[in-house]
Amino acid sequence: MTPGRSPVTIHLAKEIWFSRRSGDAIQFVALKDAAMAVDDLGKIIALGRANEFKSQVHAERTVDHGDGIIMPGFVDAHLHCPQIDVIGSGGLPLLEWLNKYVFPAEAKFKDQKVAQSGAKRLVRELKRHGVTTAAVFSSVHAVAAEALFSEFDAAGLRLISGKTSMDVGAPGEVLQPVRSDIEDQEALIKRWHGKAGRLFYAITPRFALSCSREMMRALGDLRERNLSCYVQSHISETTDEVAEVKKVWNGSKDYLAVYEDHGLLGAKTLLGHGIYLTDPEIRRMAATKTSVVHCPTSNSFLGSGLFNLKRTADLGARICLASDIGAGTGLSPWQTMLECYKVQALQGHRLTADELLYRATLAGAESLGLDGTCGSLEVGKDADFIVVNPSRNRLLSERIAVTETPAERLFACMAYGDDRIIEETYVAGQRLYAQSKAE
Ligand code: GUN
Ligand code: ZN
Repeated sequence: MTPGRSPVTIHLAKEIWFSRRSGDAIQFVALKDAAMAVDDLGKIIALGRANEFKSQVHAERTVDHGDGIIMPGFVDAHLHCPQIDVIGSGGLPLLEWLNKYVFPAEAKFKDQKVAQSGAKRLVRELKRHGVTTAAVFSSVHAVAAEALFSEFDAAGLRLISGKTSMDVGAPGEVLQPVRSDIEDQEALIKRWHGKAGRLFYAITPRFALSCSREMMRALGDLRERNLSCYVQSHISETTDEVAEVKKVWNGSKDYLAVYEDHGLLGAKTLLGHGIYLTDPEIRRMAATKTSVVHCPTSNSFLGSGLFNLKRTADLGARICLASDIGAGTGLSPWQTMLECYKVQALQGHRLTADELLYRATLAGAESLGLDGTCGSLEVGKDADFIVVNPSRNRLLSERIAVTETPAERLFACMAYGDDRIIEETYVAGQRLYAQSKAE
């Protein structure tokens, strides 16, 4: 605690929940009748039972969240902004779905006004769903990436994003030749990477089937010149895709090698899906600290397959969660966590509420290298948090009234929860959203 530092705000809540790592172990921490003190820089300076530290921390302001539960803001580590109006486009598997719905939707983002409005709507929805950090794919168009960064900048959310690189395998209006793609990315990196300590650039080859060899080489070179940037892409999402990659990239020993051979793996690389990764691929991802981003609602919706979380984790890979809209069926992390539970249960592995919370918060921050800043509520971290109000959903509050443990309550939130139970969303101590004030 840092008594005397001001102005300090104390947030009081019925419970505070978060995941804490100690070594290899993850612990679910649940504090009852709890309080969190946040300083003028938005950092957590104290956390504990309210009656224990109220007298020790001098605060300018106390906010009583009543029956609310304080939790870390969610991390959504893979979603597509230009697919915001694609959600729920059913009937096709991945490659056909991309051709029929996604590429035409993304083509519209060449128009600055469409892109700005899409980014604005995404920001609005992330805040209402309690997502404070997101790794987002834009379209191939630099104007769309620019719009996304500017909206997140204005909103105060944390963003990892980049223009999507594609020069083959799709209609011309969503392709861009290598040289101008790299020029656009250089400019975006200069303007946005590291801005406000919240916005970071990700080199974003869409997937192996949308990049030529020349493009993949150029992206590897760009990465080498910008080692602090992130890399995000897709891998081994469907069997058809894996078979096609094998044909097109016949010189690569497997799918992962397409990215690996171009220097695109590492602690700042996030690869979506990974359902059909082989053991050697997962081991190489683990060795390079490359993350698998599991997108359960997307995998179920497209019928892509069942990601085996236990096997992937046992082989040592980092795993976090994401919505992957527009293949994913919604932005609510409650829905993502619940679907994650179901997908593992279908394979005979029943995840605990503790692990699901970890995957949706701290694991995401770890995958993004932001766990020193956010992902849990610990002294010294930024106060990225949400206030959950179960009474916004009558059946949920009745259900919660008969629970005995925080883990049961957390599970109930997953089963019943959506944006209605997110009362407020904060990043670095700043309130970015309050349901009572939302339009
Ligand atoms: N693989 C390549 N592009 C995409 C995409 O937009 N969504 C999903 N789910 N998989 C992809
Ligand atoms: Zn995706």
